[in-house]
Amino acid sequence: MNSFNSFNTLFPIICLLLFVFHVPCEAQLSSTFYDRACPNASAIIRTSILRAISRERRMAASLIRLHFHDCFVQGCDASILLDQTDTIQSEKTAFPNVNSVRGYDVIEAAKREVERVCPGVVSCADIVTLAARDASVAVGGPSWNVRLGRRDSTTASRSQANTDLPSPSAGLDALISAFVNKGLSARDMVALSGAHTLGQAQCFLFRGRIYSNGTDIDAGFASTRRRQCPQNGGDGNLAALDLVTPNSFDNNYFKNLMQRKGLLQSDQVLFSGGSTDSIVSEYSRNPRIFASDFANAMIKMGEIPAAQQNGIVRRVCSAIN
Ligand code: HEM
Ligand SMILES: *[C@@H]1O[C@H](CO)[C@@H](O)[C@H](O)[C@H]1NC(C)=O
Ligand SMILES: *[C@@H]1O[C@H](CO)[C@@H](O)[C@H](O)[C@H]1NC(C)=O
Repeated sequence: MNSFNSFNTLFPIICLLLFVFHVPCEAQLSSTFYDRACPNASAIIRTSILRAISRERRMAASLIRLHFHDCFVQGCDASILLDQTDTIQSEKTAFPNVNSVRGYDVIEAAKREVERVCPGVVSCADIVTLAARDASVAVGGPSWNVRLGRRDSTTASRSQANTDLPSPSAGLDALISAFVNKGLSARDMVALSGAHTLGQAQCFLFRGRIYSNGTDIDAGFASTRRRQCPQNGGDGNLAALDLVTPNSFDNNYFKNLMQRKGLLQSDQVLFSGGSTDSIVSEYSRNPRIFASDFANAMIKMGEIPAAQQNGIVRRVCSAIN
């Protein structure tokens, strides 16, 4: 047993001692966390993630979203990856996730490759976090330094997934408070929503908006979108969240919003006469400020502390050991 593995074994005991002395036990994150026990972990994960994205470019979007949906429920603890059992209410079947979140298999494949080299060392939560960063870089987005040492939960919360993940029909106040509840600012929320420069959404999630004949949607845009999203049926038909460049990371998302071409209601409310208009306008004019704010907000989101004090390192991401 090397020094890292003995730390893994001792961690719950150390936590218990700290608890006895009323010291909160949050896993200390560090950029050198696996340097001794698994020095090649980040490279193995990156290679595996890049392989998946080169098979399907949309996977970059899906992995960034998977990380968001993990961190907003019990903190970044890979709780979203746990399958349903007698004791686990899987988050995979929560409304914001079911038939929607993708990439579980990609994370599981990266995990298998790391397990082959250093079994029992690297947490699934860290793999999800690294995957989101690697995905951003792969599609031309910013890079950032990921601090490591997250623990995997032994629990999941479908109910928290249903209450804490924001709805695409949410108004601005609801969006801001969903993020403030997780320690993120309104500005972080706008920057992170810029992830909608990538990926796809299903018709049933934006149908109300494109058939609303509202004043906050460009008429030409609405009519184009209606062609692939009929009033009845076609619920799962996909449309790009960024109509201009759905496969590359850029600030077109914010330019779209200023032209009233946001796909989701929750996109357009960021620029509809409210307090975040000035941030959208700033990001639309300055792609570098957007990229740098996005990177910093991703780090912040990726460090939302796990609710569970005595997390583990799972052997397989979909089940507890
Ligand atoms: C502000 C509140 C947010 C709401 C209401 C929201 C909602 C949604 C919805 C409804 C979809 C489409 C899902 C589907 O059609 O199955 C989506 C897709 C996506 N979201 Fe968000 N989202 C939000 C914030 C974020 C954040 C913070 C990130 C990451 C930093 C993110 C990243 C993505 C990505 C990349 C996709 C495309 C996924 C793919 O193509 O697989 N979203 N979002
Ligand atoms: C680390 O992993 C990468 C990707 O799998 C591989 O190409 C490289 O040879 C590995 N390096 C070492 C020292 O094992
Ligand atoms: C919007 O306009 C279209 C076509 O003019 C009409 O069919 C539809 O019922 C209207 N929707 C609403 C919500 O008023």
